[in-house]
Amino acid sequence: MFSSSLLLPTTHMLSMRGVAVDHEGHPALRGIDVDAHAGRLLVVSGPNGSGKSTLLGAAAGLVVPQRGSVEVRPGTRIALVPQSTPLPPRLPLTVHDLVAMGTWGRLGSWRPARKADRAAMADAIETVGLTHLTRRRIGALSGGQRQRALLAQALVQRADLVLLDEPMAALDAHSRAIIADAVDLLASTGAAVVAVTHDPGEFRRIDDRLELEDGLVAATVRAR
Ligand SMILES: Nc1ncnc2c1ncn2[C@@H]1O[C@H](COP(=O)(O)OP(=O)(O)OP(=O)(O)O)[C@@H](O)[C@H]1O
Ligand SMILES: [Mg+2]
Repeated sequence: MFSSSLLLPTTHMLSMRGVAVDHEGHPALRGIDVDAHAGRLLVVSGPNGSGKSTLLGAAAGLVVPQRGSVEVRPGTRIALVPQSTPLPPRLPLTVHDLVAMGTWGRLGSWRPARKADRAAMADAIETVGLTHLTRRRIGALSGGQRQRALLAQALVQRADLVLLDEPMAALDAHSRAIIADAVDLLASTGAAVVAVTHDPGEFRRIDDRLELEDGLVAATVRAR
C-alpha cells in the first residue's frame, strides 16, 4: 500500500535557478537552485555569511539577482519574517496593529476587520503565546516576543510561501517550542515554508534540507 504522500502531487511554490547575487561586488550567492513546495518545510542552514538571508531576500523579491531566475507560483501570498527587524522604539504600533496588517493584503487597509478576521487575529496571537501582550507597543517587546508577533502576522496573512530567517535564534526553550508548533501548523495547513536556522534540531518536522556554503548549495536532502 502506498502512503498518501506518494500519491499527492506536490505544488511548486518557489523555483530559483542559477541565482547569483553580488552585494557591492562581493558574491553572496553564486548560482544556486532552490525549490519549495506547498505543505513542506525546507530548512536552510550554513555558516555565517554563506548567503542564507540573501537567499530569502531573493525569494521574497527584495533582492534582485544579477543572474538566474526566481519564479513564484502566480497568485502566491508571501510572508517574510526577517532575521532582525529595525523598528523605531517609539513606533505607535501595538502587537494587535502589527498582526492586523497581515490582513491588509486580502482585505485592504481601509476595510474594518470583520468578526471572522478578528477571531483569526486573536487565534494567531494566541498561537504564538502573546495574548497577554496584545496591546503592548512593538517597541516595548523583547526580541523573541517581536519574532513571535511577526510570525502571528504571517499566520493571519494566510501566506502560501512563508520565509523565516532564524525565527528561533536567541529564544528560550518556551518560545522555541511555540515557534516550532506554529511552523508545523503553517506547513501542515499547506504553506510552503522556508526556514533558515543554525540548529535544524529545533524544528518538529523537516521535509527538505539545503546546506549553503560560501554562496553555493553544498547539499540538498529530501528528509521525508
Ligand atoms: N547589504 C550588504 N552589503 C554588502 N555585503 C553584504 C550585504 N548583505 C550581505 N552581505 C554579504 O553577503 C554575504 C552573505 O550574507 P548573508 O547575510 O546572506 O549571510 P547569512 O548566511 O544570512 O549569514 P548569517 O548566518 O550571519 O545571518 C556575506 O559575506 C555578507 O557579508
Ligand atoms: Mg542571515
